Amino acid sequence: MVTRKIQADLEAIERNATLYQELNFNNRVEVLDTLEFHVFDRITGLLQASNFPTELLLLQQRAEAVKRQLEAIDATLFQRLREDIQMGHCRGASLLALINTYVGRGAGGEQAQAEIGYDNLDVFTNGLFPDLAFPSETQEREPEMVFYQKTPARIIFELVEKAQLTSADVLYDLGSGLGHVPILVNLLSGAATKGVEVEPAYCAYASACAAELNLPRVTFIQADARTADYSDGTVFFLYTPFAGRMLQQVLDRLRAEAQGRSIRLFTYGPCTLHLAQQDWLQCVDPAAIDLYKLAEFRSVTE
Ligand SMILES: C[S@@+](CC[C@H](N)C(=O)[O-])C[C@H]1O[C@@H](n2cnc3c(N)ncnc32)[C@H](O)[C@@H]1O
Repeated sequence: MVTRKIQADLEAIERNATLYQELNFNNRVEVLDTLEFHVFDRITGLLQASNFPTELLLLQQRAEAVKRQLEAIDATLFQRLREDIQMGHCRGASLLALINTYVGRGAGGEQAQAEIGYDNLDVFTNGLFPDLAFPSETQEREPEMVFYQKTPARIIFELVEKAQLTSADVLYDLGSGLGHVPILVNLLSGAATKGVEVEPAYCAYASACAAELNLPRVTFIQADARTADYSDGTVFFLYTPFAGRMLQQVLDRLRAEAQGRSIRLFTYGPCTLHLAQQDWLQCVDPAAIDLYKLAEFRSVTE
């Protein structure tokens, strides 16, 4: 009975010619998920209990063939887009329009979600990054240092939309991990971006990605955010990279920078609540003081 259902699901996928059209990215993501979590999983479960697995093994081979074909379409698409980026073509408004064509509305970060979830925009933007092996941590983190977790892409898009960066801006991502924020912000806005990351392996990975994509205005600095140089920074992004005293120490550094010029800070996650307590910062929209919203703060003259 279950085998028949899997067979029917698979046949429906095989017959759906639109899946093989490159623009049909969202449906491919959905079908690849279905294959992973409903087809392969169920076949594996059935295989364990079966004495006559021939039919199931054939079904598994068919599902694997479909998966390979669908993945090949995305691989070709992203290879081409990465080459376009390398040549300096696929940037700013044209990149945003292209992403909207593939992923649809949502690629503008217009609505906040009730949790830190990832969506098809993340799947798509991941594809723009070079296919390099993910690094492992090489250093033990101090207790107040938060582990690596990437900012959802819709929040990065919302940041770009709200920040309206100009060529005079330099955006810092404090605790930049594998480099998604500086790279995507630069690609979408053209502004100079810098990532400060304490973990050398993450910093090396992010630098390699920026070099491979030919993005000279993206820089990664391997440093502790408590001691980095922020003298050229105008906009700072924090996806809760550290907590407690460490966060306060970094904010004190930024407060000192704000004595000489006004700066803007964008936050996501629990650190937003901490920034909302700082008397030298004003929140642009107090309704955004929420764990799952992008909040914007401006330094006030003291
Ligand atoms: C929640 S992740 C954010 C990653 C990145 N901003 C992104 O959205 O893709 C926090 C990052 O901050 C880094 N980090 C933690 N403490 C740090 C410190 N004192 N200085 C620099 N980086 C730090 C961690 O190694 C981790 O990569």
